[in-house]
Amino acid sequence: MKAHIVVFLVLVLSVSCTPKDNFITEPSEQERLFVDSIGNSISTSLKLALQKNLSDAIKNQGLIPAIEFCKQEALVLTDEVANNSAYKIELKRTSFKYRNPQNTPNEFEVLALRYYEKMLLEDPDFSSSYIQKIRGDQASYFYYYQALKIGSVCIVCHGELANIDPSIVSLLSDKYPDDKATGYMEGDFRGLIRVKVSLEE
Ligand code: HEC
Repeated sequence: MKAHIVVFLVLVLSVSCTPKDNFITEPSEQERLFVDSIGNSISTSLKLALQKNLSDAIKNQGLIPAIEFCKQEALVLTDEVANNSAYKIELKRTSFKYRNPQNTPNEFEVLALRYYEKMLLEDPDFSSSYIQKIRGDQASYFYYYQALKIGSVCIVCHGELANIDPSIVSLLSDKYPDDKATGYMEGDFRGLIRVKVSLEE
């Protein structure tokens, strides 16, 4: 009898703890439009800032000071939009080949990365956004995604190790001993910009 109860409990627990993708639900058309407009404007700003400010920083300040820029741009932008009262935004960049372990994808982001890998295999120019509605403990929130590709300026710090300036290589190996984010070529899929949108209660 006891064994039955244990089996029953194990079953109940395993059902309630399994696939988190069960917690992803379909956004309504209205939610999709709303999240898409917020996510699109933020991810476009981040892409532009990354491209332009990084090239400017490398040109004006040199390679080594520019190394902080790839991180800072994302943080500054997050602060800029975080003050909006109607909704809460959290910005993240994520990749299977991450440099900073803080950017490791969570279970929802892993699904999104796989989705983009698949879509880009079918169509290398695929550039649509992708939205997940996630049922949280308290309230639902949204993840908006946009793909990040490698441009010419990115190669300086994310290209083949042999072609990266030795001063950058030694700085990277100091700061990011488990760096996975090198070996890229122009046009490669680098990862995702993820904008979390939660509506204030
Ligand atoms: C001057 C060096 C430099 C250049 C140029 C550069 N990056 Fe980075 N990149 C970094 C560093 C350093 C990090 C780690 C930042 C951190 O600690 O969060 C990083 C992190 C990232 C991340 C976050 C995921 C991860 O690997 O941790 C993405 C995405 C990214 N870079 C994309 C790009 C793209 C796209 C470009 C070109 C537009 C670019 N980078 C150009 C140095 C650079």
